[in-house]
Amino acid sequence: MTIRSYKGITPTYDNSVYIDESSVLVGDITLGKDSSVWPLVAARGDVNYIRIGERTNIQDGSVLHLTRASESNPDGYPLIIGDDVTVGHKVMLHGCQLGNRILVGMGAIVMDNAIVEDDVIIGGGSLVPPNKRLESGYLYVGSPVKQARPLTEQERAFLKVSADNYVQLKDEYLAEG
Ligand SMILES: CC(C)(COP(=O)(O)OP(=O)(O)OC[C@H]1O[C@@H](n2cnc3c(N)ncnc32)[C@H](O)[C@@H]1OP(=O)(O)O)[C@@H](O)C(=O)NCCC(=O)NCCS
Repeated sequence: MTIRSYKGITPTYDNSVYIDESSVLVGDITLGKDSSVWPLVAARGDVNYIRIGERTNIQDGSVLHLTRASESNPDGYPLIIGDDVTVGHKVMLHGCQLGNRILVGMGAIVMDNAIVEDDVIIGGGSLVPPNKRLESGYLYVGSPVKQARPLTEQERAFLKVSADNYVQLKDEYLAEG
């Protein structure tokens, strides 16, 4: 079963959202309008919560999880993803916060309490360490990531185009039934 309850909480989303039937979403997860979840994504909202904004796509094989509350960290770390975010293939997002219009390159890892501001590209295969803040308007690459350069105007525009392309694609999949 793709959508599973945990402790009485079931993922919530409306019928503009596309969720591939091979993905697994558990527990306290909310998805905004026109978002999409592609094959073999595992998203587990069990020991904290996951919030995904509007027009955001989570591509194939990505893993989404979070960190439980503890004595030293009373709120734990939920996973919060904004609007118009492209999460590439096989990305790991763990207890971090992503703003709006971000591209997380395929195979990247973003760790606990990392904060990615709006309008950022994270290169494929990069690692964002715990507690790191990525500043708005820049490209980051490497493991651990380093700020590479400011985004060009073209790249900034592409962030929205990429999200819009996935909205169109998920509409086509929804129409297939
Ligand atoms: C980083 C990225 C945006 C390209 O940036 P770019 O500035 O055009 O890259 P360039 O090809 O000009 O390369 C600049 C340098 O960065 C290096 N580089 C490129 N991508 C890199 C990456 N992901 N990690 C580390 N280094 C990278 C290049 O090898 C090159 O190094 P050099 O100067 O020593 O030769 C792109 O490589 C990338 O990772 N895109 C992510 C795409 C993706 O995953 N989309 C989601 C799935 S649809």
